[in-house]
Amino acid sequence: MAEAGGSAAKSIPEMALPTIEIYPDLLALSRLAAERFARLAQEAVRARGYFLVCLSGGSTPARTYRLLAEAPYRSNLPWGKMAFFWGDERMVPPDHPESNYGQALQIFLSRVPVKDENIHRIKGELSPADAVNEYTSLLRRYGKPGLNWPRFDLLLLGMGADGHIASIFPGTTSNELAIAPVLSVRGGYQDRPVERVTLTPAVFNSARQVIFLVAGADKADALATVCEPGEKPEDWPARLIRPTEGEVVWMVDAAAAAKIRT
Ligand code: 6PG
Repeated sequence: MAEAGGSAAKSIPEMALPTIEIYPDLLALSRLAAERFARLAQEAVRARGYFLVCLSGGSTPARTYRLLAEAPYRSNLPWGKMAFFWGDERMVPPDHPESNYGQALQIFLSRVPVKDENIHRIKGELSPADAVNEYTSLLRRYGKPGLNWPRFDLLLLGMGADGHIASIFPGTTSNELAIAPVLSVRGGYQDRPVERVTLTPAVFNSARQVIFLVAGADKADALATVCEPGEKPEDWPARLIRPTEGEVVWMVDAAAAAKIRT
């Protein structure tokens, strides 16, 4: 059971999920998420010479991204040795306000010295089929024998109030997801674009470290349900995330954690 540091967080006993850290609010959560990103980056670069990150879309990680683009992180992290990927993308052009890549570029990646050639977006302006093929080939270039995609040092994920993660929506079967590392899907959530491309659990579950960032009272029912051991992954896609050789940490705020049964 990891400790979240100081009085900012309280841990609850491990049940269905490996580690849940509860923070008073999104800012506290984001501060610790940025700190954890920094620590993992330094450790990965020391151990392997690079840091491979898979970013999440959605609004929750925006604070963390902004913090990482500020002091002290902007000047003291090994940005030149990092490569960035995305767990999912909405099928919109990169400069569209709903682009996951566009958001991260604007508030984070354009403000730190990451090399352009190490920013690997999913091309939302292509047809879904072309975007899937293109990203599948790109991931393969970062693979190893027996693994057709990179082993991410850090995978960031969010969760929707309906339980979706990346663009894996409730009702998607394991068979559908097992078809390929990258899939085109349709999923309605709030007023966000419906056409999407997503990586699948095979890719996600090879990550060394997964961090879920979840905040807000609208997530409380979903988070409580995901924590129940009997719930099916088809209904609650977050339960598909079980890294074969990696760790999962849920960093959540008090509002999202309010209904977890301890
Ligand atoms: C996306 C995301 C998606 C997101 C959740 C949570 O493209 O929309 O990758 O899975 O993480 O919908 O979004 P919020 O952080 O905005 O609640």
